[in-house]
Amino acid sequence: MNDMPDQEKMQIAEAHKPILEPLEEKGFILDIGGGGEGVIGQLMGEQVISIDKNKRELEEAPSDNMKIVMDATDLKFLDNTFGTAASFYTLMYMDSKTKQETINEVYRVLKPGGKFLVWDSEIPSEKPNDKVEFYVVPIEAKLPKKEIKSGYGVRFIFQDKKLITEMCKKACFELNIKSEKGSMLYFEFIKK
Ligand SMILES: C[S@@+](CC[C@H](N)C(=O)[O-])C[C@H]1O[C@@H](n2cnc3c(N)ncnc32)[C@H](O)[C@@H]1O
Repeated sequence: MNDMPDQEKMQIAEAHKPILEPLEEKGFILDIGGGGEGVIGQLMGEQVISIDKNKRELEEAPSDNMKIVMDATDLKFLDNTFGTAASFYTLMYMDSKTKQETINEVYRVLKPGGKFLVWDSEIPSEKPNDKVEFYVVPIEAKLPKKEIKSGYGVRFIFQDKKLITEMCKKACFELNIKSEKGSMLYFEFIKK
């Protein structure tokens, strides 16, 4: 992403190298925080409805799927609308309250049996020193036909796999698949 701060203000994490296969979904896919690189839009094209609260992030996303400016804590979709929702490195940008409200909203708009796919990073709560302000996760995402390189930088808002899992369970999701590699997290949650 552009507008990156000085190197000395950043703690750079190890690179995350997620491998994304086409998603098994015939209908629409809701992408939460789908601006920026718009990775899910690039992966699944016109099936994707990307929402993001930041209009500029959506304008910058290179795919030409449907994009709507919307806050994830107040989704303007009816209950039980989507078979699949995705969040690609978006939860890390949210404080705990926003994360829980977003997860609750995703649960509401998914159909029973629908999947919530989450790619994200663990974020430490403590900075290594006073100069450092941002935790940056370099991303090298492998899609079937391309590789997308970027870096997602956030302030030190702690999150780990336990926090995300507990929030999803609180929303009544069931955990289906979890994988992790270093600080890289991937989850599949199912709406019961
Ligand atoms: C690192 S970007 C996500 C990357 C993106 N998914 C991609 O594929 O490149 C995080 C995005 O989440 C968005 N976001 C953060 N909080 C949000 C919220 N409450 N509602 C909607 N979007 C939000 C930000 O505007 C930002 O565009």
